[in-house]
Amino acid sequence: MTVTIVGSQLGDEGKGGVVDLYGDAADIVARYQGGDNAGHTVVSDGEKYKLSLVPSGAVRGKIGVLGNGCVVNPETLFSELDQLRERGLEPDVRVAERAHAILPYHRVLDGIEEKEKADLAAGTTGRGIGPAYEDKMGRRGVRIGDLLDPAVLRERLEYVVPQKRALAEDVFGVTLEGETADAFDVDHLFESYRAYGERLATEGMTVDCGTFLQNRIDAGENVLLEGAQGTSIDIDHGVYPYVTSSNPTAGGASVGTGLGPTVVGQGEIIGIVKAYLSRVGTGPLPTELGGVEGQTPDYDSEGVDEEDEAEQLATYIRDEGGEYGTVTGRPRRVGWLDVPMLRHAARASGFTGLAVNHIDVLAGLEEVEVGHSYEFDGEEIFTVPPTTEQWGRCTANYRTFDGWPEVDWTAVAEEGYEAIPENARTYLEYLADELDAPLYAIGVGPGREQTVILERPYDS
Ligand code: IMP
Repeated sequence: MTVTIVGSQLGDEGKGGVVDLYGDAADIVARYQGGDNAGHTVVSDGEKYKLSLVPSGAVRGKIGVLGNGCVVNPETLFSELDQLRERGLEPDVRVAERAHAILPYHRVLDGIEEKEKADLAAGTTGRGIGPAYEDKMGRRGVRIGDLLDPAVLRERLEYVVPQKRALAEDVFGVTLEGETADAFDVDHLFESYRAYGERLATEGMTVDCGTFLQNRIDAGENVLLEGAQGTSIDIDHGVYPYVTSSNPTAGGASVGTGLGPTVVGQGEIIGIVKAYLSRVGTGPLPTELGGVEGQTPDYDSEGVDEEDEAEQLATYIRDEGGEYGTVTGRPRRVGWLDVPMLRHAARASGFTGLAVNHIDVLAGLEEVEVGHSYEFDGEEIFTVPPTTEQWGRCTANYRTFDGWPEVDWTAVAEEGYEAIPENARTYLEYLADELDAPLYAIGVGPGREQTVILERPYDS
């Protein structure tokens, strides 16, 4: 069976921890979208592993798969694999031949276009994700399978690279020199990507993803489908254009692996919720507390009063929750939980269960608020409106919950759900009610053992 893990907010909900937890009972952990924009830290036997592309299950002896819906930078892939091997692991990672490759010019263009877009910039991770997906949809991409066939690789590059060079030089007026010039040089790209192809072939890493996974499922194995990023930065269902270029929502799990929607739908789809909100990047965020210069629209830190309660709360939550980007180190925007955003996510992916993380981060606050609904042009609405401009006009109607104390969260995790402070349980049960999905796991600390487990989806 499959269990699909979906971020229900803006990424960084703590999906890695849940994948890690439920991945124990899985044989295969497969990613279905995104690329090396997805920073996650895995702690195993006291060792910390920082990964951005390789599925975290690979650290624990599972087969890791990068599905056809992913964009794969082979340089990152091999550097992460080498890093794991140097530390004594033997990761088994397969890559879909239908997945698209990120080439060096994608990264360069990501940077150029972000600058050019100014106010429309999404604040990307600069990994070339958007430009690689653009080429996929523009039918000028290079797929992983193409790297194994030198004649096809050369043909693809000879078609696309002059266009990319013209885009950089003639449209954006950039002078290409040094390493940046190499990124647009057919021969240079051909040599390096052919070598990646050889390594993929020698190590037997490429697969026909859908067939590979379906065969394993038919043989009775468990597959965990690991979404990266989150619903509100989904290309279709997010805060467009401040989004990533793929579908983190559950539909992406089918398209991005080659498993049928019925196969994914017969399994479980678990929405990962962080008990508050965090965001790297720009766009509206009605429940935001304070702001981050360059990311919060119209926010100017010069005019900010340090005594301001919202600013102080923001700093408190940011520091308690370690809300700084794993990939970029940037401070994240933070806010109260946004329930309209979660209703939108629950509907778009059809959650069968919820994992709520980081309730420990909010411990010690006298009161905890949530945005229960929005006020939108004089009307109360309960989900996210379709355009970003409309979303920007929404203000949150808050509900206030009594706070819960700081407790020994490790002991809570050992004792189980009833040991969670009562006010926190009230908060959690409100959430499960509003989203019409049961609580499966509650994260009460950063380690995977600091989780209260209510359901083990592969056992049910
Ligand atoms: P890109 O995915 O690098 O193109 O970035 C597009 C938007 O998605 C930016 O606002 C990024 O901050 C955001 N983003 C991409 N990956 C992640 C992630 O793993 N966590 C949170 N935000 C992300």
